Amino acid sequence: MVSREFARLAAVAFIVFMLPVAALSAPSDGQGDAASGKWKSQAELCQECHGEDGNSLSMSTPKLAGHPSAYLAKQLDDFQSGARKHVVMSEMAANLGESDRLDIAAYFAGRKRTPEPDKLPSLMGRDLYLYGDMERGIPQCANCHGERGQGATARGMGFPALAGQHRTYLRIQLLKWRMGERSNSPDGVMNRIARELSDDEINGLAEYLSGL
Ligand code: HEC
Ligand code: HEC
Repeated sequence: MVSREFARLAAVAFIVFMLPVAALSAPSDGQGDAASGKWKSQAELCQECHGEDGNSLSMSTPKLAGHPSAYLAKQLDDFQSGARKHVVMSEMAANLGESDRLDIAAYFAGRKRTPEPDKLPSLMGRDLYLYGDMERGIPQCANCHGERGQGATARGMGFPALAGQHRTYLRIQLLKWRMGERSNSPDGVMNRIARELSDDEINGLAEYLSGL
């Protein structure tokens, strides 16, 4: 069972990463207008929590800077449709039109993510991230999120950038995937992966990734 599951996950990762390089685009894939996104995100108060340049200060509020824009736009769609639930964000996304979502996504995707000041390198987190654990059906995270956690875009789909993200936020999301409280990944892939992770592994991954 476990190895069949692993083969399936590895196949997804394979499809994503064996695409010709031309199919991978830069974080800002040109769908939205970043200049409009800048003032829209100010007018809509997004910058109040996420920072003017998408680098939030609060540990539980994610940095938006440096994510693929397709990823950001999808999250806003998901908050709006209820596919991803969060009291504040569902409210904040509720009245954004499609061009608002794309423009704001383009603006934050184009900002540079600032690294975390305090680094807690975790060897266990690094090994799991880079190599996975085949026996337990855990694929390499790096296959989808990039070798350095920088994220990726493939066939219009965005894989979030995890490097330099707040440790607390990463930890909360992995716990939410594990509990099934967040379930908006394609084919439930993140739920299946997170279900295999122990508390220690989740902490280790969050420490390693925030320190990149
Ligand atoms: C009051 C604070 C607050 C405001 C205002 C706010 N956000 Fe958020 N946002 C959050 C928090 C907290 C989360 C994390 C939600 C979770 O834990 O699932 C979040 C999550 C997100 C995410 C998901 C990021 C990821 O890495 O998955 C996006 C995208 C986002 N917000 C965009 C916006 C936009 C666009 C606006 C303005 C329309 C906005 N936010 C306004 C607090 C805020
Ligand atoms: C087969 C591809 C794939 C693999 C392998 C994978 N992920 Fe993901 N992950 C995704 C996708 C796609 C999303 C975004 C889903 C969505 O919300 O649309 C995601 C989302 C996440 C998020 C939420 C990011 C945010 O900003 O909210 C975290 C954290 C995460 N993954 C960590 C990991 C870790 C740690 C591993 C390895 C143990 C891993 N992922 C393996 C595809 C993958």
